[in-house]
Amino acid sequence: MRDRFLRACRRQPVDRTPIWLMRQAGRYMPEYRAVRERYGFLQMVKTPEVAAEVTLQPIQAFGVDAAIIFADILPPLEGLGFQLTYEKGEGPVIHNPIRQPRDVAALHSSDPRETVAYTLTALRLVKRELNGLPLIGFSGAPFTLASYAIEGGGSKEYRLTKRLMYEQPTAWHDLMERLSQLVAEYLIAQVEAGADAVQIFDSWAGALAPADYRDFVLSHTQNVVATVRSRLGEAAPPIIYFGTDMAGLAGELRQIGADVLGVDWRIDLDVAWAQYGYEHAVQGNLDPMTLFAPRELIAARAREILQRAGGRPGHIFNLGHGILTETPVDHVRYLVEFVQSFPLPAEATALQEVMQ
Ligand code: CP3
Repeated sequence: MRDRFLRACRRQPVDRTPIWLMRQAGRYMPEYRAVRERYGFLQMVKTPEVAAEVTLQPIQAFGVDAAIIFADILPPLEGLGFQLTYEKGEGPVIHNPIRQPRDVAALHSSDPRETVAYTLTALRLVKRELNGLPLIGFSGAPFTLASYAIEGGGSKEYRLTKRLMYEQPTAWHDLMERLSQLVAEYLIAQVEAGADAVQIFDSWAGALAPADYRDFVLSHTQNVVATVRSRLGEAAPPIIYFGTDMAGLAGELRQIGADVLGVDWRIDLDVAWAQYGYEHAVQGNLDPMTLFAPRELIAARAREILQRAGGRPGHIFNLGHGILTETPVDHVRYLVEFVQSFPLPAEATALQEVMQ
């Protein structure tokens, strides 16, 4: 059953719980570091053969149940006119951030089929090597992209982002509309290039009060999902919406229209699932730091998550956020093997047999 990840996204029964890991291709892997020695990070993303090679590394090393294309959420912003670099130890930097309404008006319009053609080519290359294993495409969500475009990099408090939102609501919504169109076009192009599912990373939306999410963000997130669905029709893939610190936003998350909702480790999986509604699949939710703990603790925490999922169709095992840089590779392999050999509860297995 090579499609168990996609089946779980659609809440169909599976033979065992699928697992993949956010940021599964990265510096914790020696194979990645070997390639990274020869290229800068952006250069890797922009060279399709290299991006394809690195995408396949965790498939070869651990046998995870899905590949995620090696790219980043920020390069599509270059098409709008943002100047992007990745600085050692600092992460992404945007050198000409938005600070006032006229900066929004001055943004270019851009077609991701041209500006990030390299990622679309990489998707086509990877697809050929996967033998039917699902391939995930992704984009940043409008809010998380806006936060980088305004702050100029990572942020703790999102001061500038929230100030623009509160003080210049017209410019804010204009920016969010442009970003939503970019995100929707980019996701559609990725599906046309071979992505079997897409994930929208709204990593920092949990920094918002629910009322601010409702007034300034929700309609734009909904537009992305609705546009992808209506333009692709029957060919629309499962859509995963991921954020961290979202436990207080359950009511808003339910309205986005995603098939799968990401869950971080700050909430028990079954509590989140009940709040998000069983019409959604869920993905998560091991604390990435747990991978630094002894094997017995990794097993105990993974078992608890699987037990909380209870064999209900629609659980995809993942971390609650991206894998951390120094993570021991042996522990990653151990986790993947543990989850892949965990027997689903008897009732779930019986249900599966009835359905087949
Ligand atoms: O999951 C995967 O394996 C696919 C690849 C992927 C990367 N970034 C590669 C990457 C994905 C899905 C992302 C998403 C991403 N990028 C997010 C959303 C997910 C999240 O973690 O919240 C965000 C916020 C970014 C922005 C970004 N890119 C940051 C903050 C950093 C620096 C942090 C770091 O680990 O250095 C990056 C760089 C980055 N993106 C790296 C990788 C493998 C490290 C680059 C290197 O090799 O130096």
